[in-house]
Amino acid sequence: MWVKLRDRSYPVYLGQGLISSIGMLCRRHRIPDRVVILADRNSARVALDPVLRSLRKSGFEPVPVVIPPGEGQKSFRRAELVHAAMLKQGVSRHSALLALGGGVVGDVGGFVASTYRRGIPFVQCPTTLLSQIDSSVGGKNGVNHLNGKNAVGSFHQPRFVCTDVRILQTLPVREIRSGLGELIKYPFVGDPKLLGFLEDRLDQIMRLERKEILHVAERCLRIKTRVVGKDERETLRRGRAVLNIGHTIGHAIETLSRYRLRHGEAVFLGLIAECGISVNRGWLAGHYRDRVIGVYRRLGCRFNPGTITPPMVIRHLFSAGAPRFVIPRGFGRVAVVKDVTKSEVRDGLRVLEGL
Ligand SMILES: NC(=O)c1ccc[n+]([C@@H]2O[C@H](COP(=O)([O-])OP(=O)(O)OC[C@H]3O[C@@H](n4cnc5c(N)ncnc54)[C@H](O)[C@@H]3O)[C@@H](O)[C@H]2O)c1
Ligand SMILES: [Zn+2]
Repeated sequence: MWVKLRDRSYPVYLGQGLISSIGMLCRRHRIPDRVVILADRNSARVALDPVLRSLRKSGFEPVPVVIPPGEGQKSFRRAELVHAAMLKQGVSRHSALLALGGGVVGDVGGFVASTYRRGIPFVQCPTTLLSQIDSSVGGKNGVNHLNGKNAVGSFHQPRFVCTDVRILQTLPVREIRSGLGELIKYPFVGDPKLLGFLEDRLDQIMRLERKEILHVAERCLRIKTRVVGKDERETLRRGRAVLNIGHTIGHAIETLSRYRLRHGEAVFLGLIAECGISVNRGWLAGHYRDRVIGVYRRLGCRFNPGTITPPMVIRHLFSAGAPRFVIPRGFGRVAVVKDVTKSEVRDGLRVLEGL
């Protein structure tokens, strides 16, 4: 699949066992010989060796930089430490950075690649379900800042994305569920059939069976590549913003949980609450919301928002004026609005109490 952005267009390769060809792909895309591989400890454990082997075989000089795992690493401090490690190793402007990991490594890696010596080429090799179906494509990167999720960052498109679904085999169940929390937005963004497929094949997807995973990844990536190609920098009202359904409440819950909840977990809850707002407005037919809740229940999710109360979410959301909401109105139908009231949010959040 291609992200079409004129002279910065790039392909997303999707397949099984692709990382053993990463060296060949880097050659094809004229990646400089010196390649920093940014991984976290978990992605390094499962995927660093084959990537190093393949790159060396193709004549590259890989420089691994391994960081601790977790959302806490999406920080200025961590980006600075990665810059420092690269400077220490004498990494020049004529080098590249390959992010080998989930969304955290991808977001920090993209940010470092876009700033190191004013920007070096970047490659995405996502290793979680969430990063494979969403975050590795589109060039958004960034770090968190105190109360601001993704508060500092830039757009820096990769030269290509290498999505190898075999790497997912080592993923903990919680991370698969979190990936599904991001995935379940896509039927509303533009693929009505996807929700039925999820419902029919949920067990196979949870077991990471090849055919099903390749199918859902392809469906999501087709939408993501198309939407990014039309609105790279999220300047259109109904362009890239449509990918943010569930995210207004989701980000609030994620931040208030101090990142104890995974991004996908918080977005799943956010989507359910925002479906609730839409149903209450008479926009979304109730059965859509119920089907999303049905998937949530079947996954056995217990994303316990713990001590986060509706007043806390409302305070967080409205602290800087009326927030923008991207609300599902039906399959392939999304509304972008700024007139959602506090009491509507309160009623939407009520749906979560019964989960
Ligand atoms: N840039 C974007 O467009 C975009 C879009 C969506 C989400 N995001 C960001 O992505 C982040 C979430 O990404 P994520 O869910 O991938 O989280 P993550 O990167 O923290 O990965 C989740 C966990 O899985 C581990 N892991 C990674 N690969 C593994 C493997 N193959 N086997 C075993 N364990 C593995 C990681 O070490 C980590 O502990 C959030 O920060 C979110 O804001 C960015
Ligand atoms: Zn997201």
